[in-house]
Amino acid sequence: MDISTRAKLKDRPSGPQGALSDLVASDSKAVSVKKITGKFKSKTIIQGIDLDIADGSITAIVGPSGCGKSTFLRSINRMNDRIPGWSLEGEISVFGQDIYGPDTDLLSLRRRVGMVFQRPNPFPMSIEENISCGIKAHHLAPRSHIKEIVRARLEEVGLWKAVSGRLKESPFQLSGGQQQLLCLARALAVQPEILLLDEPTSSLDPISTQQVEELLREFVPELTIVIVTHNLAQAKRVADSVAFFMNGTLVEFGTATEIFEDPRFPETKRYISGSFG
Ligand SMILES: Nc1ncnc2c1ncn2[C@@H]1O[C@H](COP(=O)(O)OP(=O)(O)OP(=O)(O)O)[C@@H](O)[C@H]1O
Ligand SMILES: [Mg+2]
Repeated sequence: MDISTRAKLKDRPSGPQGALSDLVASDSKAVSVKKITGKFKSKTIIQGIDLDIADGSITAIVGPSGCGKSTFLRSINRMNDRIPGWSLEGEISVFGQDIYGPDTDLLSLRRRVGMVFQRPNPFPMSIEENISCGIKAHHLAPRSHIKEIVRARLEEVGLWKAVSGRLKESPFQLSGGQQQLLCLARALAVQPEILLLDEPTSSLDPISTQQVEELLREFVPELTIVIVTHNLAQAKRVADSVAFFMNGTLVEFGTATEIFEDPRFPETKRYISGSFG
């Protein structure tokens, strides 16, 4: 990964490869979720979730449709706050800071904890501005460096060749897959510490999907990634650890090897064997 233009925000231990106990060592938590329960009005959507996400790792969240994966993901950067009727009990810390505490600046939180959604959502501005706007808004680089950073981020996601001659044009003329890569480049441009990806490759062809998966592996351990995916093969390929959700609860969390090769719970076993979902 080209991190020359990305700030090293802190010293990070190298990524986890071993047992779950290594993943949750107290000094290496990127995200710590304690007993959260989230509701839309009176309807409980996620319930009693405890989960620690190791710094510098890739965690995949899997589970049947409607089980609360996206809702859980959005609670990590407080994106649910925008939805009327949403309430959350419990605690979520990002690198030790309680993000639901009174001192949290949402703009800064969402820079540190970036997000790419299932459907590409380029901003209605030029391709170049989609990348540069966040850099400018957060004063992350002098103006004279911005063009260079835009190019680096587009190269990083493999989009530069396709868009280098049309940087001033609208992103909506790009293919769906290209728009998604642009959104990934935009998320990376603001130097996040954590990247939340909600089914990021569902609109990509197999080649672009493979390219994104390879990129994700290159991003760690500088970045911590949480990816929601329905593609179990993808979770197997990219994730260090896997969280299996069902009916708004976390059924099982473990290393990818534990979950895919030796799950503890029958529900997990049934899900990963393709019996439901
Ligand atoms: N804005 C909302 N208001 C009320 N209920 C909602 C809202 N958004 C989601 N829900 C409900 O919350 C539950 C969980 O939805 P969520 O989108 O988190 O599931 P998911 O696991 O991501 O599903 P999928 O795999 O289909 O994307 C669903 O029952 C859904 O209908
Ligand atoms: Mg979802």
